[in-house]
Amino acid sequence: MHSDIEKILVSQEEIEEKCRELGELLAEEYKDKFPLAIGVLKGALPFMSDIVRHMDTYLEMDFMDVSSYGGGTSSSGEVKIEKDLNTKVEGRDLLIVEDIIDSGLTLSYLVDLFKYRKAKSIKVVTLLDKPEGRTVNIEADVVGFKVPNEFVVGYGLDYQEKYRNLPYIGVLKPHVYSGE
Ligand code: XMP
Ligand code: MG
Repeated sequence: MHSDIEKILVSQEEIEEKCRELGELLAEEYKDKFPLAIGVLKGALPFMSDIVRHMDTYLEMDFMDVSSYGGGTSSSGEVKIEKDLNTKVEGRDLLIVEDIIDSGLTLSYLVDLFKYRKAKSIKVVTLLDKPEGRTVNIEADVVGFKVPNEFVVGYGLDYQEKYRNLPYIGVLKPHVYSGE
């Protein structure tokens, strides 16, 4: 375990097992379709990469980068497009792939945007859900794990751009935030 991590909330084995389960579930849902899977950068990258390899179907992938967080650990409440899709979503079945739903602001922004762009259907899969963080009324269709209202890192999730490469989800030791 990395020396900055205080405890592991979801292990590498649990994540691998869940990705298989969710990938197979989604493959069944989309078996007669050609969905566009939209990974929300950068956090959803490992999750997207792992679930699509359990989807034995036709699918297209694209990525979007939006930010609602500054460098810190609480949401600023603003969503900004840093990188837009290269693909037209009109008439498409969309699968939004998220790392975590916290306040719900990012997700509700994306869902509204893709509705406005006339997507045919929109489903959301998220690895993690922090229900206690919610400020807007929105839920993912498929959730990997519920996590408590703590700041988590690893498997795509960062603190100041670090820890995305860890193969598990964990909580940082307090001294890491205080910079001691
Ligand atoms: P909202 O609040 O819009 O948040 O639902 C979604 C985005 O905020 C980031 N986020 C986190 N990032 N650890 C992180 O590293 C966390 O505990 C955390 N909570 C929210 C994340 O980028 C997510 O896509
Ligand atoms: Mg982040």
